[in-house]
Amino acid sequence: MSRVYNFSAGPAVLPEEVLKEAQENMLDYKGCGMSVNEMSHRSKMFDDIIKTAESDFRELVGVPDNYKVLFLQGGASQQFAAIPMNLMKKKKAGYIITGQWAKKAAAEAKLYGEVVELASSADKTFSYIPDVSDLPITEDMDYVYICQNNTIYGTRYPELPDTKGVDLVSDVSSMFLSEPMDVTKYGIVYGGVQKNVGPAGLVIDVIREDLITEDCLPGTPTMLKFKTQADNDSLYNTPNCWSIYICGLVFKWLKNMGGLEVMKQRNEEKAAILYNYLDQSKLFKGTVEPKSRSLMNVPFVTGSAELDAKFVAEAKAAGLENLKGHRTVGGMRASIYNAMPKAGVEALVNFMEDFEKKNRK
Ligand SMILES: Cc1ncc(COP(=O)(O)O)c(C=O)c1O
Repeated sequence: MSRVYNFSAGPAVLPEEVLKEAQENMLDYKGCGMSVNEMSHRSKMFDDIIKTAESDFRELVGVPDNYKVLFLQGGASQQFAAIPMNLMKKKKAGYIITGQWAKKAAAEAKLYGEVVELASSADKTFSYIPDVSDLPITEDMDYVYICQNNTIYGTRYPELPDTKGVDLVSDVSSMFLSEPMDVTKYGIVYGGVQKNVGPAGLVIDVIREDLITEDCLPGTPTMLKFKTQADNDSLYNTPNCWSIYICGLVFKWLKNMGGLEVMKQRNEEKAAILYNYLDQSKLFKGTVEPKSRSLMNVPFVTGSAELDAKFVAEAKAAGLENLKGHRTVGGMRASIYNAMPKAGVEALVNFMEDFEKKNRK
C-alpha cells in the first residue's frame, strides 16, 4: 500500500488513524457481527454512535445548550434553500458575496425573498474579503449570510461582520473544526463535512433554538424544516449513518490531538510554511491578499497556464495529488486540511523549490 499526499479541496484527506479504525471494524463493529453500513439506524448500536458523535462535537466546539446540532443530508448546497425557507419570515436577507458558494447561496435565496448584496469582492476575482465593519444592514433583514472560508479562492474572513444585531448565518464547510469557533456569534453555523471532517453527503448545522419553529415559508418540504429534524434528533428518516460514524471517529481524533486550539496552531504552522515560500518565490505567486488568506485552501499560479499544467503533472508523478486549481479559476490550489500532516506541506514546498530551480528562466 502506498498513500499519496492528497491536496484535494473535497472530498479530502482523512486521518489515517480514523481510516484504519474504520477498516478494523468494517466486518464486525465492536462484536455485533455486522458493519455500521449494515445496521439499523434505530438500533442501540447506532444510537450510541450518533449520540456519542453529537456529544463529542459539542464538547470540541463548546456548543451552548440553547443550540441544536443537526446531522443532515443533501450537502451544504441543500442548506442554501433550507436556510431561507426556515428563516426568511420578513422575506429579506443580506448576503456578502465572496465567491462561488456565497453567490450560489444568494441565488437560491432569491427564489424565496429579497436578497440585498451587502458587499462583494467580485471586482478583484474574489481575492480578498471586503471591509465588513459597517455594512448597510437593516432591522428588516431576517439574517446576514456569509461563506466564511472560500474554498475556491482561498480567502477567509479575518473577522466576522458587524451585523448590527441581525442574526449571522455562516457556511464554514472548508474551515470546519480547523480552529475554535464562538457559536454564540451565529444564528446558524453549518458546514458540509467532506472537506475537513468526514465522508461526503452529510452537513452539520448548529442552530440557535429560537430559530427552529413551525413557521417556515409555505411549501417548505417536511424534510427541510429544521423543526422536523430537531424534534427527531436527526433521525426523522434514515440518516447518512456511515458519514456520521466516520465523523464521530474524527471528533475523537481531534480530541486526542488536543482540540481545536491545538489544531489552529498546527494549521497556522502548516500554512505559514507554504505562504512564506510563496512570498519569496520568483516563480510561484499566491493569489490572495495577505490578510484574507485561508489556512485551509492556498491557491497559487506561475503566470503561465502551460507551466501550471506541467507543475500539476510532475507533482502528481511525485505523489503530490490534486493540486490543480478549481476549474473556474485555473492555476493551482493546495488544500491543507486538518488531516494533512506538516510533512505533506514540507514535501510540497520542497517539490516547488526544486521545480522553481529547473523552470525559472
Ligand atoms: C464553502 C462551500 N460551501 C458549499 C459547498 C457545497 O457543498 P456540497 O457539495 O456538500 O453541496 C462547498 C463545496 O463543495 C464549499 O466549499
